[in-house]
This record gives sequence, C-alpha cells and structure tokens, in this order.
Amino acid sequence: MASQKWIVSNMPDLSGKTIIVTGGNSGLGFEAVKAFVSKNADVIIACRSLDRGEKAKKEIIRFFPNAQITVMELDLSSIQSIYSFAAKFKKNFVRLDVLLNNAGIMMVPYGMTLDGFEQQLGTNHLGHFALTGLLLEFLRKTPGSRVVNVSSLAHKQGKIDFANLLYVGGKGYTPLKAYGQSKLANLLFTYELQRYFEKNNIDCKALVAHPGVSDTNLFVHIAPKWVMKLIRPVFKRLTQPASMGVLPELRASVDPEAKGSDFFGPDGKYETKGYPVLVRSNAASLDRESAAKLWEASEKLTGVIYN
Ligand SMILES: NC(=O)c1ccc[n+]([C@@H]2O[C@H](COP(=O)([O-])OP(=O)(O)OC[C@H]3O[C@@H](n4cnc5c(N)ncnc54)[C@H](OP(=O)(O)O)[C@@H]3O)[C@@H](O)[C@H]2O)c1
Repeated sequence: MASQKWIVSNMPDLSGKTIIVTGGNSGLGFEAVKAFVSKNADVIIACRSLDRGEKAKKEIIRFFPNAQITVMELDLSSIQSIYSFAAKFKKNFVRLDVLLNNAGIMMVPYGMTLDGFEQQLGTNHLGHFALTGLLLEFLRKTPGSRVVNVSSLAHKQGKIDFANLLYVGGKGYTPLKAYGQSKLANLLFTYELQRYFEKNNIDCKALVAHPGVSDTNLFVHIAPKWVMKLIRPVFKRLTQPASMGVLPELRASVDPEAKGSDFFGPDGKYETKGYPVLVRSNAASLDRESAAKLWEASEKLTGVIYN
C-alpha cells in the first residue's frame, strides 16, 4: 500500500466519475461527499429527507463552489423508494463508478420497515442489497466500478439467525443483537458480491470499511439526549471526528491499489481510531455457506434478483 497514513490528499483526481453516497447528508456520508467533490467527482447525495440533503449540499458548496452535487430521495426502508431512486438515477446518469452504501441506523428500538422487515437489517443490509442489485446494469457498464459497504466493529457481536432473521413480532430482539446482525450481513454480502462479480466476469469490485468509533448522529438511540449531553466531553475523547472516521470508506472507494473483498478500518488501538489500513473481519463473516444463504434470503425478501 502506498502510504500508512492515508488521507484525503492521497485520493486520485475523480473528474468524470459518478459516485452515489447513501446517507450523504450526515456524519460520515457528508464527509465522504465533501472529499469526493474536492477531487472533482460528480456526487449524488441519496437521502431520505430532501430538505436535509439540500442543506448538506448548500453547506458543501460554501467550501467547494464548483461542486457537482445532485440530491436525490432514497428511503432504504422502502423497496418502492429504492426502485424509484434507481429508475430516476438511470434516466439522469450514464455511469456509476462508486456506490458507497453508507447509510445506517444503530441500536434503534424494535420496529419494522415499510415492507415489514426488522428495521436495522432492513435499512442497513436489505435496502442496500436491493439498491445494488437494481444498479447492477450501471456497475457492469462502468469499467473499474466499485461497491463499498460500511460495516462496524459491532459485526463481532453479530450472529445471523436464519430461523429468526427478521425478529418477527420483536421476538428475541435486542437493539445490539440486531445491529450486530446487520453489520455482519454487510460483510457477508460484500464477500459474496465479490465472488458474484468474479464468477460473472464483471469489472467491478466489492469492498468494505468500518469507521472505528466516530462522532456522528448515529448514537442518538444509545441514551436519552440529556445523558448524551452530560457525557459529551468523555464521548468526544473516546471517538474520532467524522472527517477521520470516513477515511476507510474513502480508501475503499478510490485507492487504486485496493482489491476486491478488502476491508479497511482505522490503524489505532482496537481499531477505534486512526488512519485507514487493511483489517480483518471475524470468522463468521468469512463463512461462505452463511453468505450464500443470506444472499438467497435477501433476494427472496426484497424481490430483487441479481442476474
Ligand atoms: N459513527 C460510528 O462510530 C460508526 C461505527 C460503525 C459503523 N458506522 C456506520 O457508518 C455509517 C454511517 O453512519 P454515521 O455514523 O455517519 O451516522 P449518521 O450521522 O447518523 O448518518 C447516517 C445516515 O444514514 C441515513 N439513513 C438512516 N436511515 C435511512 C434510510 N431509511 N434511508 C436512507 N438513509 C437513511 C441518515 O439519514 P437522516 O439524516 O435522514 O437520519 C444519515 O444520513 C452507518 O452505516 C453506520 O452503521 C458508524
């Protein structure tokens, strides 16, 4: 790898490239959009609130007046919204160089998506599975394209419970277990997707990243607002800024030396902070049988078939 301390200035020029960032209005996604436009990419902020997306665009344009940013509505908790997004994207764009599947929710109380999926698996994995499948045609026709999924250290707490994948009726649900399951699913999906690309001779790579522990809006469900306010100084010390946390996602998206199935995370102690390097995911994430089973279940649930 070119440099141990990989930073935004290591990114190549991205003129002519089209990049979708899901959840590009907040936290790591917002930082990713900023970094991509700083290198001249044409970026789509795919977000569930157009207002929040436009606000983010406005803020970025203050720093990069020539930035090419399009805000498009995408609610990953609705298959219908994912279909509409994909159709609109195909109408308005001609290529897709990077699909950064960044959006996510963490440790929310039990709830379901519009399609009846447990919402953490539904948003974090199934929504991105469907989106990727619907954009496959564009990934295929863009030479050297990439899909980057965003996992978490919490994948190590995850277990895919095929007998109760969706925690129907909230049975056996805990916010951490379901988050861990969804983040393990992000890894299993990445590795299976890479195998799919190789088997079908598609010039696209699937990679994955985790941001350590980064200071973003993700933690809103961890504790009540007043507690978060109280522990803010400690929280700040334990986390890294989003501008650092995004580096593994960026490296996976654009480092020319990165390979399919590479997993990037921070180089610091316990991978909680630091500069992006190759890291290892746990044994469960490498289980091919689980990956194939999850793929099959994801196709069945979302109705999006990869072919
Ligand atoms: N921060 C960390 O320490 C950490 C650690 C490990 C992994 N991660 C992963 O990093 C990714 C980014 O999270 P973040 O930390 O940047 O948190 P964040 O600031 O809360 O951003 C999450 C983004 O996802 C969007 N989102 C949530 N549900 C969505 C839906 N149904 N459809 C479309 N977009 C949706 C949010 O939109 P709204 O603004 O509309 O809510 C927001 O733009 C997530 O996948 C998360 O699991 C983060």
